[in-house]
Amino acid sequence: MPPKPLILSAFLMNTTSHIIGGAWRRDEAQQHRFNQLPHWVSLVKTLENEGFDIAFFADVVGLYGDHEGGWASHVRKGLQIPSNDPLVLISALAAVTDRIGLALTSSVVQAHPFTFARQLSTLDHLSGGRVGWNVVTTAQENAHRNYGADELARHSERYSWAEEYLEVCYKLWEGSWSDQALRVDKTHEDERGGGLHADPAGVSKIHHDGDRYRVEGPHLSSPSPQRTPYLFQAGSSDRGRDVAAAHAEATFSMAPNREIAAAHAADVKERTKKFGRRPEDLAFIQGLSFVIGSTETEARAKAEDLDTSIDDHALIAHTAGSLGVDVGYLPIDTPLEDLEHTEGAQGHLAEIKKMAPNGKVTLRDLARFRAQSTRVVGTPEQIADELEAWQAAGIDGVNVINSTLPGSYVEFIDHVLPVLRARGLARHPQDAAPGTLRGSLTGEDRLPASHPAATHRDAFTQYSAAATETPKELLHSH
Ligand SMILES: Cc1cc2nc3c(=O)[nH]c(=O)nc-3n(C[C@H](O)[C@H](O)[C@H](O)COP(=O)(O)O)c2cc1C
Repeated sequence: MPPKPLILSAFLMNTTSHIIGGAWRRDEAQQHRFNQLPHWVSLVKTLENEGFDIAFFADVVGLYGDHEGGWASHVRKGLQIPSNDPLVLISALAAVTDRIGLALTSSVVQAHPFTFARQLSTLDHLSGGRVGWNVVTTAQENAHRNYGADELARHSERYSWAEEYLEVCYKLWEGSWSDQALRVDKTHEDERGGGLHADPAGVSKIHHDGDRYRVEGPHLSSPSPQRTPYLFQAGSSDRGRDVAAAHAEATFSMAPNREIAAAHAADVKERTKKFGRRPEDLAFIQGLSFVIGSTETEARAKAEDLDTSIDDHALIAHTAGSLGVDVGYLPIDTPLEDLEHTEGAQGHLAEIKKMAPNGKVTLRDLARFRAQSTRVVGTPEQIADELEAWQAAGIDGVNVINSTLPGSYVEFIDHVLPVLRARGLARHPQDAAPGTLRGSLTGEDRLPASHPAATHRDAFTQYSAAATETPKELLHSH
């Protein structure tokens, strides 16, 4: 099979220290400038000009679990604190770009779905349909406490919340307005007077009444170019995979090697059939970082140099903190065999265990897991060979992890992209037409009829504005 262009996503976060803890301290690193809009404008315009498909902003709405008994170390090391809201940033980036997809994480615990659905419709309108949403359930207990809970909700309960949250959003995005409802007809005349802004028969309440939410509707935004934003999911537990298979259009992973990624992709794609979808309805995007040299020796030397700026404790706090365990006091070679049943991120732990020889995982493995297991070191040609192998294993795209901003992307663009383009593994920027994110990735602006969101289309016409209207001839007879 001839190579297909890989989906290229930049894995970003509106904070200083996202994945590769400690790298912010390097001389060339500029990620601490995340409060400044020109920093992002310049980066995201560069990504767009070079043919990246997506600028993806991860987010958390609370601290990772305690490290060394508290959260002082998170503050000291800038572990995703301070951080800013990606939704607000994306709104600014929409104004200065016109092709790149703008995706963000938003958790089902952080905003009421009515508010969130309206915010994303607004962004989808303003960006010309370029918004993507990574649906997350949030494993940080502090985040749950930030929104009023006493403790972290159970893993399965969080996924049930996510499914109801999605249902409410789908009803608002897909079911509340018909395609023909918005008229903005200034000259329309009928027996009720002049002007028809929207057709009452095409705008409906949704009357959602579920376990967690009651939402009357209607959606206050009219249908945006994509209606439902392009949907990402990143859970890799059993339940997370089902939710991805049922709902996601792309799934993010950080599998530590190709075999695990391939098995994950094949499994989630197979599961789509249970939900009446096709395996090709779901793209699989793997997180990878790159250390690039003009020779392999040079690349290895750069990787070694990078390792000197990696902060093991920040990485341990990040990984263990998302599993909900404080391992900050333990010696660095302590095995972690007793972490089976955490309510935190379960898929991740399983991946770490598979990576380690004999399934024996130590704290040090945990520390280096994020920084090294997804790292590709080599010449541009070796990296292209590696990406070809990832694609052959069933990966549709790469979520490029950075060590430094903007350096990691500038180097990838300058050295790796030309080789990928020459091999047909990346698009030429001039081949990327403006349009919606879903349109550029799937050819269709709207979700297919097989997606669960589509079941809500035209499903609420009994609750339309027109259905509440008193016939004109009866109006004055009371
Ligand atoms: C590439 C990638 C990106 C992720 N981004 C976020 C994020 O921005 N915010 C967040 O809270 N969780 C994020 N996660 C975590 C997942 O959404 C999920 O909560 C976690 O993997 C636990 O789910 P599981 O138990 O189903 O594996 C990300 C995971 C991956 C692999």
